[in-house]
Formats: sequence, structure tokens, C-alpha cells
Amino acid sequence: MRRAIPTALAAAFVVLLVALEAPVARGYNITRILADHPEFSTFNHYLTVTRLANEINRRLTITVLAVDNSGMADLLARHFSILTLRNVLALHVLTDYYGSKKLHQLTHGSTLASSVFQSSGRAIGTTGFINITEHSKGRVTFFSEDAGGAPPVAFVKSIKEMPYNLSILQVSSIMSSPEAEAPVAPPAAVNLTDLMSSKGCREFANLLLATPDVLKTFESNLDVGLTVFCPIDAAVRAFAEKYKNLTAPAKASLLLYHGTPFYYSQQLLKTNNGAFATLATDTHDKKYKYTVGSDGDAITVKTHLVTATITSTLIDQDPVAVYAVDKVLQPRELFKPEDAADAPADAPAASKKHKHGAADSVAGPNEAPSDEAAADNAAFRTGSSGRWLAASAAALAVLVLAV
Ligand SMILES: *[C@@H]1O[C@H](CO)[C@@H](O)[C@H](O)[C@H]1NC(C)=O
Ligand SMILES: *[C@@H]1O[C@H](CO)[C@@H](O)[C@H](O)[C@H]1NC(C)=O
Ligand SMILES: *[C@@H]1O[C@H](CO)[C@@H](O)[C@H](O)[C@H]1NC(C)=O
Ligand SMILES: *[C@@H]1O[C@H](CO)[C@@H](O)[C@H](O)[C@H]1NC(C)=O
Ligand SMILES: *[C@@H]1O[C@H](CO)[C@@H](O)[C@H](O)[C@H]1NC(C)=O
Repeated sequence: MRRAIPTALAAAFVVLLVALEAPVARGYNITRILADHPEFSTFNHYLTVTRLANEINRRLTITVLAVDNSGMADLLARHFSILTLRNVLALHVLTDYYGSKKLHQLTHGSTLASSVFQSSGRAIGTTGFINITEHSKGRVTFFSEDAGGAPPVAFVKSIKEMPYNLSILQVSSIMSSPEAEAPVAPPAAVNLTDLMSSKGCREFANLLLATPDVLKTFESNLDVGLTVFCPIDAAVRAFAEKYKNLTAPAKASLLLYHGTPFYYSQQLLKTNNGAFATLATDTHDKKYKYTVGSDGDAITVKTHLVTATITSTLIDQDPVAVYAVDKVLQPRELFKPEDAADAPADAPAASKKHKHGAADSVAGPNEAPSDEAAADNAAFRTGSSGRWLAASAAALAVLVLAV
């Protein structure tokens, strides 16, 4: 069902796209802070271009080692690609707080700090760890562990400190790191909807195809960072009635809620703490989030209403990861807990309605509507078909929540 997107929806997208550009979680904006310091304008510009600004803003504790415009000119003269530039600059973003005071209080006068490059999963071995050493007379230097004897860079001055969240320090020049400077293969072209369709998320792919602006938002993140949790077909079918009831902007928000503007490998998913900003998260109200964690070997995605489990990996190829989940992720911004509680009782009625030609909104052309109706009713039955069971599981989860 490809319909023209109503104007209201288009307007909603403008808002959502703006939000997408700026998933700030922590109340500071590195771009704005550095804007007060014109001698760092080139550095600032490239934080935005490489999208590291987003990465910085969403972290709890961070130290940015900034170089002035002449330091950046030296770097740019090497004509690195944007992806390589991102790696080099990511080396200059430390995932811990180092104010100027702390630099002079290092245990044994030295420490190893990890950088965003190190934690990106792109670096191997000790690459991306930054050695910070205090020398005599309070001189402090930084070098990358893989610098191979290149001279360290020196701490110049503190630009901004917000203990113990954000520290911006000026260093004398860009640190050397063969690993970060290495050419980065351009990401393989990924056709999201094709990939999903061929690996168990055809229904979700169809919803995206029916909502082109949302699909465009997903696609625009393919080369800079995207993680998608696509609900498996049975889960989307079981959700069809609820989805149909949503307004067009709410449908868009729900779909965007299944993507995040960052790449998360399975390892990063397991170790990441805190709420995930999603493609539906607005900068200002910070809604539409969920938490991801591990439960034994399984990785779960928890909204306030549902806990979905990752059932398979469709692709995990930096900067893109797509995971299948066994439930539609329901944000509390669109659904009340009572909605979830009501679902099992509503199911028979919903199924009946479904039989009267409502299948087009969710089911693919080859799907029999009666099958979905059966799935809706199947919560208490032990079907012999795996497909049935999977659909039941989704309904059952709603029931469990209700109890
Ligand atoms: C940060 O500040 C810049 C410049 O003022 C602005 O363009 C950008 O939208 C801001 N980002 C967020 C997330 O607010
Ligand atoms: C940092 O480098 C200095 C000089 O190479 C070395 O003496 C020191 O042990 C290193 N510090 C750490 C924590 O590795
Ligand atoms: C710093 O981070 C803490 C959480 O670790 C947060 O509570 C606090 O509001 C943050 N401060 C600023 C200035 O962002
Ligand atoms: C993905 O593939 C489908 C057909 O398989 C095609 O219609 C669509 O344009 C492709 N999308 C992109 C972004 O190439
Ligand atoms: C859809 O909306 C109708 C009318 O508001 C309501 O009766 C029905 O229960 C809703 N269905 C679902 C599945 O939420």
C-alpha cells in the first residue's frame, strides 16, 4: 500500500530528521562550546562532518583533545578520506575525564586512556590507547600506543572543563597512529529492504517500503552508523491491528524507533549501558529510547512495555548492523501499559476485523490473512507449526506483561 505521504507526516519528518542529526543525550553540545573558540573552527567543523560530534555528545564522560586550525591544516594536507579522518579524530576523543588537574595527578605520572577509536571495534590490539605522561616541570604529553616512536604531542591548555563529564584540552598537534591513518574500505552497499526481506523481516521491510521518508532516514545512516532491530515476520503480523490504529506520524515514529543512528556490534550491545537514542528520539525531549542488555547469552531490547530478544544477525559489518528481534518494540510514547495488557482480550475481536480485508497494511502479497488471524488467536494453543509458535510467542509476551 503505497500512498502519498500526507503533509502532516512530511512535516513530522522534518522534525524527526532534525532530531536525527542531533541525538544529544547529556545536555552539552560540543559544536556549540567550540563555536566560542574560532581558533578551533576547523577541528569543530570536522567533528560535525565525521559525526563524531554526535558520538561525543551522547557519552557520559569524555575528553576531547583539540588542535587549532594550523594543526588541522597539517592533517588535511594529507588528504585522508572522511572515514580515515574520522578514525584519526576518534583517537583524539578519550572515553574518560581528564581535566588539567587530573593530568598532573596521574598515578606514577602516567596512564593509558582508551579512545573512541579504540572502543569503536575498528582498532586492533592496543591500537587506540593513548599514553598520557607527566614529565618534569609539569609538562604533559600524549601519544598513541601504535605511534611507533613518533614524537608525542604536548598538552597546551585547557579549553573547557565540566567535571567530570566533558573536558576539552588543546594539544600541540595531531597524534600519529598508522592504524588510525590506514585507508578505510568504503562500506559495502547494503540494500536494507532486500536484506531484511531475504532474512526473516519481510513484513517490516514492507512497512518501510510503504513509508519512503522513513526508509530514506534509515538509508541516510548506512554509511555513518546504523543499527536496526527488525521484528520478525510473525511479530509484525501479530502487531498488525495495533499498527493500523496508529496515525501516520505515529507509524513513522514507531518505525524509526527500530533504528539507532550508531553502529553497535553484538559486543558493543552487550557492554553498552544506559538508554539508546533511536532514530525517533527528539533532541529536546529525549523520548523514544530503550535499553539493551544481555540476559545470559541472549541480548534483549527493553522498552517500558516489551522485552524483545535478538533472534539472529542479518548483518554486522561496521558501520551497519541489523538484528532480528522477536517482538515489535513498543515505545511508551505511543502505547500505554494498559494497551499491552488489553491485547490478549482484544485479540479475537481484532482477528475478526482483520479477516475483512485489512491485511494490506502489513501482510505481504503472498500472506493469507486468515493465517494471521489464526496467529492472533494462538496464544494458548500449542501449534505444530514453527511459524505459529513464533507468532504465539509474541502474543504470549504481551500476556505475561499483563500478569
Ligand atoms: C549544537 O550546536 C550547533 C551550533 O549551535 C547546532 O547547529 C546543533 O544543532 C546543536 N546540536 C544539538 C544536538 O543541539
Ligand atoms: C607511557 O609511556 C612512557 C614513556 O614511553 C612509559 O614510561 C610509561 O610506562 C607509559 N605508561 C603506561 C601507563 O603505559
Ligand atoms: C554529568 O554526568 C552526570 C551523570 O554521570 C549527570 O548526572 C550530570 O548532570 C552531568 N553534568 C553535566 C553538567 O552534564
Ligand atoms: C533495493 O532493492 C529493491 C529491489 O530489490 C529496489 O527496488 C530498491 O531501489 C533498492 N534500494 C536501494 C536503495 O538501492
Ligand atoms: C483499534 O482502535 C479501535 C477503535 O479505537 C479499538 O476498538 C481497538 O481495540 C483498537 N485495536 C487495537 C488492536 O488496539
